[in-house]
Amino acid sequence: MSVTDFLKAKEQGSRLSMVTCYDYTFARLIAGTAIDAILVGDSAAMVVYGQPSTLSATVDLMRLHTEAVVRGAPASFVIADMPFLSFRKGPHAALEAAGVLMTAGARAVKLEGIDGHEDVVKRLVESGIPVMGHLGMQPQSVHSYGGFRVQGKDAGAAEDISRQADLLQSLGAFAVVLECIPAWLASKVTTNLKIPTIGIGAGNGCDGQVLVLQDLLGLNIDFKPKFARPFLDGANLIAAALTDFHQSVSDRTFPAPEESYL
Ligand code: KIV
Repeated sequence: MSVTDFLKAKEQGSRLSMVTCYDYTFARLIAGTAIDAILVGDSAAMVVYGQPSTLSATVDLMRLHTEAVVRGAPASFVIADMPFLSFRKGPHAALEAAGVLMTAGARAVKLEGIDGHEDVVKRLVESGIPVMGHLGMQPQSVHSYGGFRVQGKDAGAAEDISRQADLLQSLGAFAVVLECIPAWLASKVTTNLKIPTIGIGAGNGCDGQVLVLQDLLGLNIDFKPKFARPFLDGANLIAAALTDFHQSVSDRTFPAPEESYL
């Protein structure tokens, strides 16, 4: 997969699948599947480190996770999130941050919003760094929303998201994530754009879908938004395996002779 394959997929009407990943072991498993792209999301701050938002993710943290994922999935199309404020301090600082992520092995970066950093997107694209946009609910703006809330519900807000999507496309973004917006709005944006849209909580009309890996695997026991379908009963399977291990240690059936060095 590459940037041009993303555009080709849109032209051909084939849907794109993307999952988040933060570590080497899961990256290896994803690399063995047909998943189209891996996102090293700044959701790492929440999913891996238990923070209440993505704001604590830093460029250095994203570099470490990007390196781990790329080691596990060297042939995959890996996109790294530009963390909070790393692209809001002007084109020079943004180029430095994106450079760290690209030299860590990412093939593209993703950044939230567009208003106020149009020059940054343009400069990154001109510098040969593919940029994926992210509109709708932008988790790095959680405090200005007053919580993680669906965006674009009224006509004005919907119009504004459409405008931002057009702007991202005109500045050279190769795709855009649409997060937590009404399905009708995501479909409209998708129809209007030549670049693919990747939805999360944005209905079935997008050109692709992304999920946080831990949600997809049913590992997140206390976060169950309606868009995050668990494709595995992961939490219960893991609990059962751990209980089995504990029981096998307690009743001395683990390790068996064939699991021991003689
Ligand atoms: O950081 C992340 O996981 C994301 C996805 C929700 C798209 O940005």
